[in-house]
Amino acid sequence: MIIAIDGPAGAGKSTVAKIIAQKLGFFYIDTGAIYRALTLKAIEEGIDIRDTTRLIAMAKDTEIELINDQNGSLKVFLDGRDVTLEIRQPRITKLVSDISKIREIREIMLGLQRKLGSTRDSVLDGRDIGTVVFPEAEKKFYLDAQFQERVYRRYRELRQLSQDVTLESVEDDLRNRDSIDSSREFAPLKKADDAIYIDTTHMSIDEVVSKVTEHIQKAK
Ligand code: DC
Repeated sequence: MIIAIDGPAGAGKSTVAKIIAQKLGFFYIDTGAIYRALTLKAIEEGIDIRDTTRLIAMAKDTEIELINDQNGSLKVFLDGRDVTLEIRQPRITKLVSDISKIREIREIMLGLQRKLGSTRDSVLDGRDIGTVVFPEAEKKFYLDAQFQERVYRRYRELRQLSQDVTLESVEDDLRNRDSIDSSREFAPLKKADDAIYIDTTHMSIDEVVSKVTEHIQKAK
């Protein structure tokens, strides 16, 4: 069974997806982490963000692994190296949307995501899971929240990771990524027609998890 959870940054997708996966004993696949790992590699290799040819060649020659550990958290490996924390840094966040808008990069990553999801029951969170990666997913959700609330959430999350960010920088980043992610030509952020829309602005995590769980149980 595939559960797809899409939506913009800060809508609560990854927190909810992780809890749902743990509750159901499903594999949790954070697809944003895949694009973030690629972005880290591009930076480390000094590849110019506009050099699409080199970025594509790099993506073809990259191994990304996602591992769920026992307490439900996700570990991300880039060519065998644990990059779980590094991929959350602002220097990655700043560039990730520019790399993930490249069609060929998305095609390569599509194969990886389908391979990961087809081996076992999975919860995937991302931007195009219900529309492109797994259009046949049994359950699809689109989590959303008002812009300012998403900014606060992301700000608190990053501060907890001890990152030295300001509200303004988080706001700029979200505005920029919302715009690139939703207007890109290939697989833009979009609610699938058959996805259940949940506005989480005034909801606690527990409330969102209950709502999602209710819908999954209905589907059985
Ligand atoms: O979920 P996140 O904020 O970690 O995602 C980082 C970026 O990766 C996001 O701004 C756009 C891209 N992304 C994507 O294009 N498609 C996905 N399925 C997931 C993420």
